[in-house]
Amino acid sequence: MKNFENEKHLLNYDEIDELHREFLDIYNSVDSSSIDSYIQKLTALLQQSKRHFNVEEELMDKYSYPRSREHKDEHRKVLAEMQYFINNTNSLFGKKMLKAYYNEKLGDWFDLHLLSMDSDLTAFLKKVENGIV
Ligand SMILES: [Fe+2]
Ligand SMILES: [Fe+2]
Repeated sequence: MKNFENEKHLLNYDEIDELHREFLDIYNSVDSSSIDSYIQKLTALLQQSKRHFNVEEELMDKYSYPRSREHKDEHRKVLAEMQYFINNTNSLFGKKMLKAYYNEKLGDWFDLHLLSMDSDLTAFLKKVENGIV
C-alpha cells in the first residue's frame, strides 16, 4: 500500500495532483494474493500513465519547459519497462518478475519521480502562470 500523502505527494498543481492520486488508487487496488491482479493493474497503470505523461508533456511544450528532454526520456523509460513486464507474462517466471517489479520498483520510482522531476516541473509551471518567468 502506498497512500497518497499530502506532505509527500501533493505538488499543489491540481491537474497533475489528480493524475498522481489516480495512479496510486490503481496501484493500491491490487489484490496481493492474485498474480493475475498484478498483471491487470500494471496494464491499467500503463494506460493511465500514457495519459498522465501526455498531460505533463503538453504543459512542458506549451511553456517551453527547459528540462523537458530529461523528463520525457524518464517517462519513455518507465512506459517501456511496464510494457516489457506485461509482454513477458506467458511464463510463471515472467509473472513473478512482474510482481517483483510492481512491489519493489514501480512504487519507489513513482515517489522519486514526483519528488524530483514532477516537483521541478510544477514549480516551473506555477512561476510561469504567475508571470515570474
Ligand atoms: Fe507525474
Ligand atoms: Fe513526470
